[in-house]
Amino acid sequence: MTGTGTGRFIAFEGGEGTGKSTQARLLADVLRKIGKNVIVTREPGGTHGAEAIRELLLHPPGEGWGPQAEALLFAAARSDHVLRLIRPALTSGTWVLSDRFVDSSRAYQGGAGGLGDAAICELHKFGSDGLRPDLTILLEVDPERVEQRLIARDGDKSDAIGGRSAEYHAAVARSFRDLAEADPDGFRIVDGTGEPEQVHERVLAALTRFIGEG
Ligand code: TYD
Repeated sequence: MTGTGTGRFIAFEGGEGTGKSTQARLLADVLRKIGKNVIVTREPGGTHGAEAIRELLLHPPGEGWGPQAEALLFAAARSDHVLRLIRPALTSGTWVLSDRFVDSSRAYQGGAGGLGDAAICELHKFGSDGLRPDLTILLEVDPERVEQRLIARDGDKSDAIGGRSAEYHAAVARSFRDLAEADPDGFRIVDGTGEPEQVHERVLAALTRFIGEG
């Protein structure tokens, strides 16, 4: 079906195991039913180049990346993703739902990783012309519940970033909340506890201003 109206860009953010990819999928189903063209994508990744960088980031060769190199690699992956997938889709009227975007770099590398928000925003300005989602949905789930979900999902396999300390992940969660509270127009904080369908209803409620427009 041909998509009508303007393509909207919605990012799902939050720590590991908060249900971002499930919620992106459920939202895509609803949007398609009402006749929108939709792509669901993820970061790091979404294009051939960015998926190759994803592998470097999550399974680093040798001793791993320093904080600056890590931030640059995320920004490089995002630059390719924006240039080759996100911008062309939005221009053609397609909705883009992304499992993570620049606010992940702001929370992980900028906040928890200590590089600061200004540096991350500067890299994003250079790499992706500062593109912002129309709305960022921040999914919050309390850390104990997340741990149970992650054990069920990943067992004892974790990657170079997911496997960092509980303190690091707590700092990520705090950074996400600070970012959301500082920009109430750009973010909606959604409680990610409960069954996926219940969370989905909350996501739809957060998006009423976009769904139903031409
Ligand atoms: P992924 O398996 O996609 O995350 P999730 O567990 O949420 O499904 O792995 C992506 C990892 O990369 C995750 O630990 C978050 C991290 N990350 C950053 O540190 N900075 C970023 O900019 C992005 C996009 C991800």
